[in-house]
Amino acid sequence: AQDFLIAPSILSANFARLGEEVDNVLAAGADVVHFDVMDNHYVPNLTIGPMVCKALRKHGVTAPIDVHLMVKPVDRMISEFIEAGASYITFHPEASEHIDRSLQLIRDGGCKAGLVFNPATPLSYLDYVMDKIDMVLLMSVNPGFGGQSFIPGTLDKLREARAKIDASEFDMRLEIDGGVKVDNIAEIAAAGADTFVAGSAIFSAHQASDPHGYDTVIKQM
Ligand code: DX5
Ligand code: ZN
Repeated sequence: AQDFLIAPSILSANFARLGEEVDNVLAAGADVVHFDVMDNHYVPNLTIGPMVCKALRKHGVTAPIDVHLMVKPVDRMISEFIEAGASYITFHPEASEHIDRSLQLIRDGGCKAGLVFNPATPLSYLDYVMDKIDMVLLMSVNPGFGGQSFIPGTLDKLREARAKIDASEFDMRLEIDGGVKVDNIAEIAAAGADTFVAGSAIFSAHQASDPHGYDTVIKQM
């Protein structure tokens, strides 16, 4: 894959100035807005929901919004996010009672669909639904928090996922989420990822009082 996409995770943005933060990372060259939805049930944290997605669209964000659902159950939130202007909607297979149905629900709503794999979740969940997937998202940390370290074993899993995708007749993106930094992104790309989520690496650059912090980090990635 040649077209690499950078997807800042707004989990690490300043929520009190979210519209401005999103505008800034997009102006700095980011391609996609990664939107982490946590429910204090599937994961031990609570973040933002469809109203905030809708507010970003109303604010004028036209870039793709990549909604990463860390919620259980998933179907109700899928419908809400379709309505709120999501572009991609991904969910964890363990959190859905009927994975095929949830994927179909996303595509029926006109969005791109994906499955998310925790560090210990087997890729075999892909086997019978390859034709319904636009994005495979591998977690390189356990979900719930920003600022964790990249789990090295994910590189082998990325190579495995890349081989599975390339052996299929379908076109899908391979996204990586967790601990992505300027100094490990080349290695992660070499292992097969084409879409890179980065939260703390991007947003902490700005909070360090460098007015061009976003530009520097995003351009280095
Ligand atoms: C974790 C989230 C990630 C997180 C990444 O559950 O899915 O998107 O924000 O943050 P960093 O890049 O700081 O690891
Ligand atoms: Zn995420």
